[in-house]
Amino acid sequence: MSSTKSTASEAPTGARRDTLTITDNRTGKQFEIPVKNDTIRPIDLRQIKLQSSDFGMMSYDPAFANTASCASKITYIDGDQGILRYRGYSIEELAEKSTYSETAYLILHGELPTQSQLKDWNYNITHHTFIHESIKKFLEGFHYDAHPMGMLISTVAALSTFYPDAKDIFNPDSRRKQTYRLIGKMPTLAAFSYRHILGMPFVYPDNDLSYTGNFLNMLFRTTELKFHPNPTLERALDILFILHADHEQNCSSTAMRIVGSSHVDPYSATAAATAALYGPLHGGANEAVLRMLVEIGSVKNVPAYVQSVKAGEKLLMGFGHRVYKNYDPRAKIVKRIAYEVFDIMGRNPLIDIALECERIALEDEYFVSRRLYPNVDFYTGLIYQSMGFPMTMFPVLFAIPRTSGWIAQWVEMLLDSEQKISRPRQVYLGQDLRSYIPLDHRS
Ligand code: CMC
Repeated sequence: MSSTKSTASEAPTGARRDTLTITDNRTGKQFEIPVKNDTIRPIDLRQIKLQSSDFGMMSYDPAFANTASCASKITYIDGDQGILRYRGYSIEELAEKSTYSETAYLILHGELPTQSQLKDWNYNITHHTFIHESIKKFLEGFHYDAHPMGMLISTVAALSTFYPDAKDIFNPDSRRKQTYRLIGKMPTLAAFSYRHILGMPFVYPDNDLSYTGNFLNMLFRTTELKFHPNPTLERALDILFILHADHEQNCSSTAMRIVGSSHVDPYSATAAATAALYGPLHGGANEAVLRMLVEIGSVKNVPAYVQSVKAGEKLLMGFGHRVYKNYDPRAKIVKRIAYEVFDIMGRNPLIDIALECERIALEDEYFVSRRLYPNVDFYTGLIYQSMGFPMTMFPVLFAIPRTSGWIAQWVEMLLDSEQKISRPRQVYLGQDLRSYIPLDHRS
């Protein structure tokens, strides 16, 4: 795409109109296009044509770099200021004062719950944590070294076969039930996948424990009659879950909305969102960061590694963000939690390599000029490793809390009268019409 020259001048006082005037220099024609919320509608460009038989102009925006695909009231991000808010509440305040379960309620309902609403919410989530026994057979079919994200994607998709009522997506009661089921069962699917890898018996949910306390119970309980999660680790995981609950129109939320726009059931759409999250550029980055720190191996090797990143041979995983061009506010909170976890579990020696990567990168012109800062995934892997999770579980620990955000995005999409099945346009640059050549005539 060629770059365009533009000139801007202030409109005379009193002449302000919420429109954009476009001059098509190919024809000399002018078009006045409405502007609302600082956006134009590409469909208004369609009237711009060379000839009346032309299709008309479209916008071309690979990877949606400057295209809003929806209007949303869930999450606000200001990437230049490093601001993240769910439903108007700052991430810092929620991380300090809220719980994951309350934050999930907030994200889904738009308001913080009253005491009785929270009690009902927790009751309903807690009473939907069990999974059908057949899912266990399904899990047993996986190899001992299967990646738990692959197992999670498959088993969450399989839930749709157990709950055909989930197809009733425009029924609020059905949506509510699937919401309880999805938020309640994701930790169980994740924990059972983990136990399967270890070859250990599955641990059933314990209704006396909190959302994260029960998750730790299903992961780590061995012979004790009652599992008592360490309260600092339970709270650390709960805060990490708050930080990961939603992040507006990222790759996986967009997958949830796009797949959901075909009116498929929410389990199938969540499987698609989980698959999108799996990639190393998205939720798989926390695992990729740890693998990178292990590969670097020692603080003295950091400069050489950074050099290879600058030479374009590698990425510095856990750095950079499409939206944040300032420090990711989640990363600041994660860094603090890391030290709280190290106080209990012992210092993770890889932290020194991570700190050195950060120190060098934040001073280096390559990273400074591109506004590359640590993102949420840079330090989370160190915490998860210290808590005893294998690396392959890291993206799973992202998927569980993000489920509330995915469902909120899905419901918002379904109830938005402007939304319909997603179907982007393309710029066709392939062959024009040509005649078929029989096989024996081809050279
Ligand atoms: N290491 C080295 N260079 C980088 C990095 C990185 N981590 N990230 C971006 N750049 C460079 C990139 O090569 C490009 O350079 P140039 O202008 O010379 O071509 C420039 O910075 C702009 O990057 P971009 O690829 O246009 O940015 P993007 O918005 O398309 O990509 C990103 C965003 C997060 C995919 C990317 O920064 C990246 O790959 N980071 C590493 C993976 C990672 O940590 N992902 C987790 C994201 S946060 C969790 C989540 O919400 O998913």
